[in-house]
Amino acid sequence: MKLDRDRMPEHVAIIMDGNGRWAKGRGVPRLMGHRAGMEAMKKIVDHSDKLGIRHLTVYAFSTENWKRSVEEVSGIFKLLVTFVNRDLRELIENNVKVRILGDYSTIPEDSKKALEKTLRDTENNTGLQFNIALNYGGRDEITRSVRKLARLAADGEISPEEITEDMVSDYLWTGSANADSPDPELIIRTSGEIRLSNFLLWQAAYSEIVISDVLWPDFDEKEYERCIAEYQSRDRRFGGR
Ligand code: FPP
Repeated sequence: MKLDRDRMPEHVAIIMDGNGRWAKGRGVPRLMGHRAGMEAMKKIVDHSDKLGIRHLTVYAFSTENWKRSVEEVSGIFKLLVTFVNRDLRELIENNVKVRILGDYSTIPEDSKKALEKTLRDTENNTGLQFNIALNYGGRDEITRSVRKLARLAADGEISPEEITEDMVSDYLWTGSANADSPDPELIIRTSGEIRLSNFLLWQAAYSEIVISDVLWPDFDEKEYERCIAEYQSRDRRFGGR
């Protein structure tokens, strides 16, 4: 596919949707859909790097996903451990830096340990930054930022009038203290659903949203490039003319 290398988005964010339907369509357990989804995710990390994208964020587990069955939740976290243990060496070789968006202190202990090792071992990498949104919620993130600013104001370190949009951004998970990622120019959602589902609500203010009808486990390099080409065909105006 012909992509304009000079107009690649710097940050792509993806809502990986449709693992359950993929599994249902094949008559296999939902977890097999997530496993296939993990492989698709790996493919897209590698391809983002090849395309010269600087930041990739995936929505792996939302603050609402805890409502799923215990087996499904623990299965997803096991997959996360499988992913980091199996692919850590390759991520390091490819100079990928991994960051987490979300409060992962409450995830199962073994997953937390594996993740922390990954964060440490990739910390100084300078290639693609791969952000995994984990126990992430957009409203929760904005609330946390507001709480921190309110604390600074209550302590007399800033006055409420001084609070700017940049300061709110800074205390988000994508802000300078954590991932330090710019707002995504492109958000992709798979499986034909047209919703943000509490994903990057603040950061999505000017994002182009591209919907792919493909179920996430079937999402591949070709469909990814088609989504980027659709993004490149759009005329971004940011409210101007
Ligand atoms: C949405 O599909 C997918 C998720 C909630 C989980 C995403 C998980 C993966 C891609 C597995 C790999 C994850 C990690 C953390 C390595 P769905 O189950 O909502 O699909 P449905 O809408 O068709 O039921």
